[in-house]
Amino acid sequence: MLTQEQIKWIEEKPLSDAIHEIAQLFPGKIKFSSSLGQEDQVITDAICKRGIDVEIFTLDTGRLFYETYDLIERTNARYKTRIRIYFPEAADVESFVNEKGINSFYESVENRKQCCFIRKVKPLNRALEGAEVWITGLRSDQSENRKNTPVIEWDDPRQLYKFNPLINWTYDEVIGYIRENNVPYNPLHDKGFISIGCAPCTRAVEPGEDPRAGRWWWEKSQKECGLHSDHATAEKYR
Ligand code: ADX
Ligand code: SF4
Repeated sequence: MLTQEQIKWIEEKPLSDAIHEIAQLFPGKIKFSSSLGQEDQVITDAICKRGIDVEIFTLDTGRLFYETYDLIERTNARYKTRIRIYFPEAADVESFVNEKGINSFYESVENRKQCCFIRKVKPLNRALEGAEVWITGLRSDQSENRKNTPVIEWDDPRQLYKFNPLINWTYDEVIGYIRENNVPYNPLHDKGFISIGCAPCTRAVEPGEDPRAGRWWWEKSQKECGLHSDHATAEKYR
């Protein structure tokens, strides 16, 4: 367990020092989930440049943008790394799409959450097996749900620390880091896409619009897929 002093120390450190420190405390037990979004690319840059021992993985839902797949390859080439890819269970996807329809997520919130559970949440839980620390690229000003998220929190259902090193970064700081360090990024960001998820569930946003308005744009529900909210481990979708 981390002491309060260790948590405070990590919270106050610059990005790569903080990740380095936590990697020393949990050797071989840290995993970073990257969606290849701008925040995640900053973290990947910090990890790879310093050669920190952290597994970087992504969840391939099978419905990502072509540009995202391309960015996986460009990132691997740039940092001489290999981002690990986790897929959903084929049987889950097959029975879901055959029962409900290939694009049934547009028909109800229930269907949408079930699709996210099968394609993202379940593979995430599998990816995190054996990990003691889970690094994410969450930022507090992305949504109301994330507003009070701390840098380090205990994820009780998964029994691990969740480390959100960019939680207090602004969007401009992220963009500034990407430019200064020439970090590879998704070209869709230059076409009005800020937060990018699966292709059928993401659209570009207008200037001044909520950055997450393009995610599940047809829904009025909370804009979360369940990775970071309470249906993360929901029994009913199993
Ligand atoms: S989501 O819950 O709405 O999809 P968002 O796209 O804002 O999440 O990303 C927040 C963080 O969740 C990312 O920084 C990353 O740590 C994790 N994440 C989201 N999607 C994926 C994915 N496909 N693969 C791996 N990690 C992801
Ligand atoms: Fe399915 Fe859309 Fe969720 Fe992707 S974002 S897992 S396609 S509902």
